[in-house]
Amino acid sequence: MRTVHVHLQDRSYDIHIANGVLSEAGSILKKLGASQDLVVITNAKVGALHGNVLMKSLAKAGFASRTILVSDGERFKTLSTMQFIYKRLARYRVDRKTWLLALGGGVIGDMAGFAAATYLRGIPLVQIPTTLLSQIDSSIGGKTGVNLNEGKNLVGAFYQPAAVLIDPLLLRTLPLREFRSGIYEALKYGIIRDDALFRLIDRKHPHFPESEPRSLEGIIKRCVAIKAEVVSKDERESKLRMVLNFGHTYGHALEAVTNYRRFTHGEAIGHGMIMAAHLSHNLNWLGTKEALQIQQVVSRVSPLPSVSDLSPQKILHHLMSDKKAFGQKVRFVLPRRIGQVEIASDVSMKDVACALQSYLYLGPYAFAC
Ligand code: NAD
Ligand code: GLY
Repeated sequence: MRTVHVHLQDRSYDIHIANGVLSEAGSILKKLGASQDLVVITNAKVGALHGNVLMKSLAKAGFASRTILVSDGERFKTLSTMQFIYKRLARYRVDRKTWLLALGGGVIGDMAGFAAATYLRGIPLVQIPTTLLSQIDSSIGGKTGVNLNEGKNLVGAFYQPAAVLIDPLLLRTLPLREFRSGIYEALKYGIIRDDALFRLIDRKHPHFPESEPRSLEGIIKRCVAIKAEVVSKDERESKLRMVLNFGHTYGHALEAVTNYRRFTHGEAIGHGMIMAAHLSHNLNWLGTKEALQIQQVVSRVSPLPSVSDLSPQKILHHLMSDKKAFGQKVRFVLPRRIGQVEIASDVSMKDVACALQSYLYLGPYAFAC
């Protein structure tokens, strides 16, 4: 078992990473001093695939657990699903000592996290992520929340879990498209922090998740370590943590204009990372060779859903309502080289629109403006 620690004073916690760790959930929670009664938040699909192993492990360690099943999918990451969760928590007579367990991908993790942050003004939470994307990203760092029609993740809270349990074996049941969605986020860590990781993922990902389990586990650990380090230094995103949003400014806008139905989150970030590389190249921040490498490696993961029919005006409108927008300026995380990014606070809307338009009209291979 590998443990990565998130250092946040009294909000510190361990991330346990190991094949098969789901079946040890009960004993880990016991050591953490979890309440006798637990509530598991999941959906029908994940519950059917992996709920049994968790429940057995909890029962073996003497816990009693109840389950809340929510609808599956990004379009249900809403305030109305939150209300459903709150009502169930009330019906279960949850008190401030009751622990919540989030078993699922990022959608479940974000909503269960928000419920834990807000119900009775805060109850303990353990994240048990079941998608690659949630194992390397969303379960760590305490960002929780839901979408509004007006934009993604506009309502939420920072709320750290008491622990995160990552079992890479759970990824074997993940549909390939969802697995690849996580690969885009893994490439993100390479581009922002570690060029060797970027190249390793490019070489290895076609073998995953069935073959080379050690390499997959190693890549997960490296991504988790990067995220834990960044969050430990800047929990509330005053500066450094913004680097984790590489690809997200364009990506979130793509998700919003397509009503969260066309792209997986990772696919939207895949497009967003190539667009950000274009923008960086147009601003002379990034050389042509590395911009092309980002474009090629990201495109190789899988064919990204088309963007050619999307309205640049609508995307720009969403960019301006992004959480990261300030007045008329949108903040971008842009690569200087593979392995290093910088935060650009004063990119003109003209440059942003220009990179966007050439990308939408000419596709990922456009580099001119
Ligand atoms: P998801 O939660 O929608 O899961 C994708 C699909 O896989 C779902 O249908 C789910 O039911 C299914 N699934 C989950 N685990 C499975 C398994 N082991 N086997 C088979 N099917 C399984 O999507 P996601 O990509 O995990 O998460 C995306 C969400 O995460 C977005 O809402 C995004 O905004 C959020 N996010 C949050 C943060 C953060 O820091 N909080 C970071 C990145 C992304
Ligand atoms: N995924 C961005 C963050 O956690 O900050």
